[in-house]
Amino acid sequence: METKIYKIEDCAACFRQIREAAKIIKTGGLVAFPTETVYGLGANACDPNASKKIYEAKGRPSDNPLIVHIAEFEDMYQIAEDVPAKAKLLSNAFWPGPLTIIVKKGKAVPYETTGGLDTVAVRMPAHKTALALIRESGCLIAAPSANKSGRPSPTLAAHVKEDLNGRIPLILDGGEVGIGIESTIVDLTEETPMILRPGYITADMLAEKIGTVWTDPAILTKDTSARPKAPGMKYRHYAPKADLIVIEGKKKNVIEKINALTREKQSQGRKVGVIGTDETIGYYQGDRVLTVGSGKDVDHIARNLYRILREFDEMETDVIYSESFRSFGIGQAVMNRLLKAAGHQVLMAKDNQGDTKIV
Ligand code: TXA
Ligand code: MG
Repeated sequence: METKIYKIEDCAACFRQIREAAKIIKTGGLVAFPTETVYGLGANACDPNASKKIYEAKGRPSDNPLIVHIAEFEDMYQIAEDVPAKAKLLSNAFWPGPLTIIVKKGKAVPYETTGGLDTVAVRMPAHKTALALIRESGCLIAAPSANKSGRPSPTLAAHVKEDLNGRIPLILDGGEVGIGIESTIVDLTEETPMILRPGYITADMLAEKIGTVWTDPAILTKDTSARPKAPGMKYRHYAPKADLIVIEGKKKNVIEKINALTREKQSQGRKVGVIGTDETIGYYQGDRVLTVGSGKDVDHIARNLYRILREFDEMETDVIYSESFRSFGIGQAVMNRLLKAAGHQVLMAKDNQGDTKIV
């Protein structure tokens, strides 16, 4: 199958392209489209065969449920068995936006879309092209990130093409996404709401609107036997081809440690990659040194992280050492993704005291 790519600069001027994309969705096909978080791979959420096509195209395990994207809050009433008051409060505050809400599944959504679960994840994306596509198709649109399963989520249409060229009929190219990591997922089906995946909307922001919010303990631990509540969080996502190790500690110690490790690996004939920031890359001696942006601008780091991980896959590196980034605000979501990509391999850089492996 040939994959067409339409550049969508301004939706108002791109009505023909949106209409063609909507027609593909309406007739059971797949379209990749931009959202404010990452690119999504869309299909009609109410059509079991269309959902199956998503799993096939991505090579995604069929127990990993999809997020249903909507353009009007009213659509919640067909998707959900009942719409909790907290869903309304959160939607007023954060939709359209990078927040996914899990509620009890209604009849409109087939089990093929929810990976067999009785709950369903719903999100209203804050992106004109995404909203135009949902409205024009008249469908609820199921959309996971538009990457091959196990690859970093796409932040550019070129990333979608890299992974899915020839497997889907159309990519809507809206340029680089605004946020760069996937939406926060909050589960409202339990007594106390629980974050299943950290993102741009933080626990504090949610708590301000709906009171106490917990975070799934399984996503905070390196213990791989802990079972995350979001089925997708158990897979080793975002894994670069090279071994990735995160170095924690004071900046000066981290730089020294990464350089010492780099020399050691290079002396064994290994090629070393380093992920640093604008402020630190000048200090590194790796074979490939890439910056994720200014260490002072964690939003920028979020936007660059997946692109950098993909760039390393194109390069001949055996091992990648990465600095660790601030873990508050969206920094927490960045660190969650980075640690997952690293398979939770972390080394602590200490003041001339030797190294301690964190377990
Ligand atoms: O920002 C985003 O959320 C992007 C854009 C395209 O909207 N989408 C996205 O979808 O990241 P995906 O499929 O790559 O990740 C969805 C995550 C998976 O970890 C999945 O297991 C979880 O949401 N999920 C979906 N439905 C769920 C449910 N009913 N209960 C628990 N987890 C669920
Ligand atoms: Mg994904």
